[in-house]
Amino acid sequence: MTPRFIVFDGNEGCGKSTQARLLQQHLQQSGIASILVRDPGTTRIGELIRAILLNPDHDEMGMRCEMLLYMAARAQMMKEVIQPALDAGKWVISDRFASSTLAYQLGGDGLTAEQIRQTADIAIAGRWPDLTLILDLPVHTSQSRVTAKFLHKTNTLFGVETQEVKDRIEKRNRDYHERVRQNFLEQARAFPDRYRVIDADRPAEAVQKDVAGELRV
Ligand code: TMP
Repeated sequence: MTPRFIVFDGNEGCGKSTQARLLQQHLQQSGIASILVRDPGTTRIGELIRAILLNPDHDEMGMRCEMLLYMAARAQMMKEVIQPALDAGKWVISDRFASSTLAYQLGGDGLTAEQIRQTADIAIAGRWPDLTLILDLPVHTSQSRVTAKFLHKTNTLFGVETQEVKDRIEKRNRDYHERVRQNFLEQARAFPDRYRVIDADRPAEAVQKDVAGELRV
């Protein structure tokens, strides 16, 4: 079967948004219609939920609330955007999906993979991605890419650099992000027919070549 619902996932800074865009351009050149979505977000309701989730002031948010909000945003995106596109014969390229919840929220407040999968199954009405591409990156590289994104000069006269606020998830410590990476790799080991791991610690062109090879496009 030709995979039509493709997800790019991985730690922050792994280049998934870039690869998602490059894939869409590549499909377009081959005359294949596709849409690009980001999770959480894309819909009006999803973008509002995204803002609640990533607001660094929301310290009190519990893991179960967090997990369910990601799922709620995804449920809306599935119903409003993804399923209609698939029904219309288009490819769907998603920047993150349920694989992120299975990496970032797993183990939080005792949440198991089975519970997260069952909740996802409800949210997405059983329409799982055909292929999830995990762009794998060592955590130190991921973190330096994220930090670089947030460094900006506030005082050019004295050359002082300060760090802008990271979002609620990016602020979590390195051990957390290491577990997230391992959780992605574990999913790929558990479901080898639905996941591929691609080494993302390389130039974007090399990564893109592997992506095209995996999808045979
Ligand atoms: P990003 O997509 O711009 O990287 O930001 C989304 C943030 O939300 C990122 O830190 C990962 C996090 N996230 C989760 O914790 N669980 C999820 O299910 C998803 C989709 C994202």
